[in-house]
Amino acid sequence: MNTTPPPLVAILMGSKSDWEVMKAARDTLLQFGIPNECRVLSAHRTPHDTAAFVEGAEGRGVEVIIAAAGGAAHLAGVVAAHTVLPVLGVPMEGWALKGLDALLSTVQMPPGIPVGTLAIGKPGATNAALLAVAILAAKRPELRERLRAFRAAQAKKVLAETLE
Ligand code: RP5
Repeated sequence: MNTTPPPLVAILMGSKSDWEVMKAARDTLLQFGIPNECRVLSAHRTPHDTAAFVEGAEGRGVEVIIAAAGGAAHLAGVVAAHTVLPVLGVPMEGWALKGLDALLSTVQMPPGIPVGTLAIGKPGATNAALLAVAILAAKRPELRERLRAFRAAQAKKVLAETLE
């Protein structure tokens, strides 16, 4: 009997080279006890597998998809085209332009198919997971409390900072 809980969040990335950064999203979800699945799937290198995976996500119980890519970064937009689940895009810094290319191609979706775009790189990966938690928390009061506790702990840490 399989007792693994179904994933609530899917984290997709265009290349294994994105994983070092996207681990921050997975780790943040784990901090909140959110079951997730992480996959390398590319909009241009594996277009059919990407579409099939995303089309099956809702049926597997996934409620939010995080999609990260660098360069032309069309992954999040392509993912959003194949599902009505909320899609959060994380632009990767990549090999040129410090990720501005990925930021613009992720954020500039034409009207009709939205992608909620986060910051470039690790801050965006962390915030994508926190936003996914907030979306899931809308119908899960205990998760909302955990989010409040996280914010309170973060504030306490900042207020306890001393300089020199
Ligand atoms: C994108 O191209 C990936 O998301 C990655 O950020 C970038 C470079 O991929 P690799 O050449 O490192 O596989 O598709």
